[in-house]
Amino acid sequence: MGEHFDKALVFTDLHIVAEGEDIITLDPLARFAEGLKHALNRHPDAQHLILLGDITHNGLPEEYARLAPVLAECPIPITVTMGNHDTRAPLQAAFPQAADANGFTQSALDLGPVRLLILDTHDYDNQAPLEQDGWLCDIRLTWLDAELARAAREAKDVVVFTHHPPCPVGFWAMDAIGLANSEALLSRLHAAPHVRHLICGHIHRTIHASAGGLPVSILKSPCHQIPMILGQGTSADSVDEPGAYGILLALEGTIVVHTEDFALSDGAVHGGA
Ligand SMILES: [Fe+2]
Repeated sequence: MGEHFDKALVFTDLHIVAEGEDIITLDPLARFAEGLKHALNRHPDAQHLILLGDITHNGLPEEYARLAPVLAECPIPITVTMGNHDTRAPLQAAFPQAADANGFTQSALDLGPVRLLILDTHDYDNQAPLEQDGWLCDIRLTWLDAELARAAREAKDVVVFTHHPPCPVGFWAMDAIGLANSEALLSRLHAAPHVRHLICGHIHRTIHASAGGLPVSILKSPCHQIPMILGQGTSADSVDEPGAYGILLALEGTIVVHTEDFALSDGAVHGGA
């Protein structure tokens, strides 16, 4: 008998566009719908669905609205946060539960023994130097401080989620638009020994990293990916490779992040190989 892991599904960088539009000929809504159906079929025991930013491509109300019928099929609670492509008012209109008391899309929830802290790194007032990079303002960092202290008091391990990774990953154009004040985040996480793992999006590529010793998992998009060309290119460069979602397994003392390329096979399992 194996250990029981509590489980959450994580999709990032959906990039939903308006009806009739595409991204490098791909239909982001169809890709997400296929991925979500796959995930819910394969993981009926998942307890949460987390949407980790860049929900839409242009931040338009009609783009968010297209998600409603797909998410209506989802029987588990949904937690959403923002990426650089999102805009706050339409996202919070589509997901009213996403807004916190300060008007940001940050939330804390429990996955079995582990507290998930989902941060909002959208740079809403252009404090970061570039348009697409991320920022955590004092209000959001104060919220994080309070949640880290609460988790410590309650003896909870913590997994943190941010759309923008706080460390460079080798794609220069993406590194230029990472979390601009990453030290403000990492100094807090490094000072909190109960923080076990960080999960990010933004890059559109499966990446394993450590940021000052903190393990980081970066997940692919269900739609378009960044080409595996390190050290050159632009943040808009995209390639049609299989879409993916993440599966977070939480056990006291152990955090596991799987990534599933949902269009790679029909799932038929063959013995005797
Ligand atoms: Fe993205």
